[in-house]
Amino acid sequence: MNNYDLKVEEILKQLTLEEKIGMIHGDGLFQTKGVERLGIKPLKMADGPMGVRAEFLNDKWIPLNHSDDYVTYLPSGSAIASTWNNSLAYKYGQVLGREARGRGKDVILAPSMNIIRSPLCGRNFEYLSEDPFIIGKLAVQMVKGIQESDVISCAKHFAANNQETNRLGVDVIVKEKTLYEIYFKAFKEIIIKANVYGIMSAYNKINGHYCSQNKWLLNNVLRKEWNYENLVISDWGAVNDTLEAAEAALDIEMSVTDNFDNYYLANPLIEKINNGEIEIKNIDNKVRNILRTMFKIKMLGDTEDRKSGVYNTKEHQDITYEIALESIVLLKNEDNVLPLNKNIKKLLVIGDNAIRHHSNKGGSAEIKALYEISPLMGLKTKLGGNVDIRYTKGYYVPDKAADDKHWQELSLEKKIAKEKTLSDEIKAKQKLYLDEAIELAKQYENIIIFAGLNHDYDLEGQDRSDIDLPYEQDQLISEILKVNPNTIIHLLSGSAVSMSKWQAQAKTILWSSYIGMETGHALASIIFGDVSPSGKLTQTFAVKLEDYSSHQIGEFPGNDHVHYYEKENVGYRHFLVNKIKPQFPFGHGLSYSKFTYDKFTNQLDDPRYSFNLNIKNIGNFDASETIQLYLKNINNKEPMVLKAYEKVFIKKGEARAVSLTLDDESFSYYNEVSKQFEVKKGLYQVSIGTSLENIIHQTQIEV
Ligand code: BGC
Repeated sequence: MNNYDLKVEEILKQLTLEEKIGMIHGDGLFQTKGVERLGIKPLKMADGPMGVRAEFLNDKWIPLNHSDDYVTYLPSGSAIASTWNNSLAYKYGQVLGREARGRGKDVILAPSMNIIRSPLCGRNFEYLSEDPFIIGKLAVQMVKGIQESDVISCAKHFAANNQETNRLGVDVIVKEKTLYEIYFKAFKEIIIKANVYGIMSAYNKINGHYCSQNKWLLNNVLRKEWNYENLVISDWGAVNDTLEAAEAALDIEMSVTDNFDNYYLANPLIEKINNGEIEIKNIDNKVRNILRTMFKIKMLGDTEDRKSGVYNTKEHQDITYEIALESIVLLKNEDNVLPLNKNIKKLLVIGDNAIRHHSNKGGSAEIKALYEISPLMGLKTKLGGNVDIRYTKGYYVPDKAADDKHWQELSLEKKIAKEKTLSDEIKAKQKLYLDEAIELAKQYENIIIFAGLNHDYDLEGQDRSDIDLPYEQDQLISEILKVNPNTIIHLLSGSAVSMSKWQAQAKTILWSSYIGMETGHALASIIFGDVSPSGKLTQTFAVKLEDYSSHQIGEFPGNDHVHYYEKENVGYRHFLVNKIKPQFPFGHGLSYSKFTYDKFTNQLDDPRYSFNLNIKNIGNFDASETIQLYLKNINNKEPMVLKAYEKVFIKKGEARAVSLTLDDESFSYYNEVSKQFEVKKGLYQVSIGTSLENIIHQTQIEV
């Protein structure tokens, strides 16, 4: 027994049944009940991954409209991932943790780390990647950064929550090997390597059992196999049965309704304990985990030493800018259209996304941003008053019909996606906007289009129906490219969108996810070449939807059931196995500079192998490059898979040594018979490159 455990047992002895029950379910939309007489405070929680969410009434989804809950608006998960920068992921965590604490929270409901199984999942913008290795690496840093502020990072959603359609009930039918190698991998990492204090159990079922009351998932995998001893909190409304939830290793039931005393783990549980159906030891275990975790974040014990946090500092805004900068991906840049020269006289900016603010939408990730610099404002602040910047919308975004109630209050009700039919009025507006943009384009040499999605599409509770750009944007982009082939296109989206209708005609394409309050400043710095782009995709951008594994087999979205027949071949793995050429591959992202690579050497000291190279920046810009290592077992049909990466910043004319290492884990696969990860011996091909399709060096090793 460690230090905390003795104290925990002492407190446990003093608690009444009612007090224990108060601690294990929501007594507000974002808090549990405390026990005042023993100095136990309520656990205060807040969403979410992109900043600390604004305050609501305790029991209603009514925003309090305070003036002190504006916060730093951080880049989303898929943006952070595209930096490929572990130290930025850590800084992101530090900002979020400090702000959560600064706002008086004990639990921050982040990071969101589900696998991007299909580009259509509405919450992909919150998630990091289709690849579990990079999610794990970055999430470990995020969690460490958050928890440094004596705040619980509640990582979500465990597990296999990969679609929004029928998210409350869908039963994911999936093999154990697939779960362990793909869907569990990053969660295990944050438990083992970052000692995460909170895990949110998902809404969906896995192989017939709701995650939030799934004994195999929570009791066996999480607690026994991974020795996880901190909190498990249900997603809001994810519990469906008192007995099962009581016996499962779930600690706190949260939900979206205000009947707190009637939650499954409230009065119904007291009844079942009193009539002997449920043993009190189940409840004691939950309370133990809660108390233990409270000691860890100094809510109990050394409370005077607890960090106080801080929010809205200049430093936080600077970190947000840094992450945003490194997350922008240059997909294509023929004829060096980018960077633009700051001495231009005239610039035409087209597109609704040039002026749209995104922070206050998207579902539970919404926040009240202290400010949000739009792309247009970023360009204007960069160029000043001597450049004639003309703006036109280019495409029309109809307002979404507002519900009377807050969406989250309605989130447990079955919703049927509304059919999108375009009224004549909308069509007329679209034509008007398009015609105006075309006419203006004829008068400008320099044009930038800011297009893509917004949170009407990248949205919790709903999946997209296709990967095409909405609002007739394909037509807009094609027409403008006809007028001016040097038009620069920036696409914003949480995950892949198709560009097939105009990609070949475009010379220059930038992509980014939602990159936070400094969006405009970061984009302007990249566009005008103050900084060279260094973001890279962590999701495959396909030509068409059917190229993705889950769509090829017709298993997205499932409704009652969804079968993960593609097994481990999610994302780029499927493209490799089936030799499908994507629009832009995993790991892709260009720079304004040029690099050469040489002096490749291997050091094969079992159990750590290192692969070394020298990289030189021979271009005209200081710039960063990310070296990626993919591994393939030559004796089987599995594709090559990301196993190491490193991002390095190199000044022009200088060189850096890079060393990528592998260990036993890199060669391990899950064995469903022995129920363990085992090293697979044999011949491996090591491929080192700057994207999945740009391999610069290959070597073979015998393990
Ligand atoms: C979401 C969670 C979120 C919770 C609380 C749920 O709808 O799935 O990610 O943390 O609400 O807002």
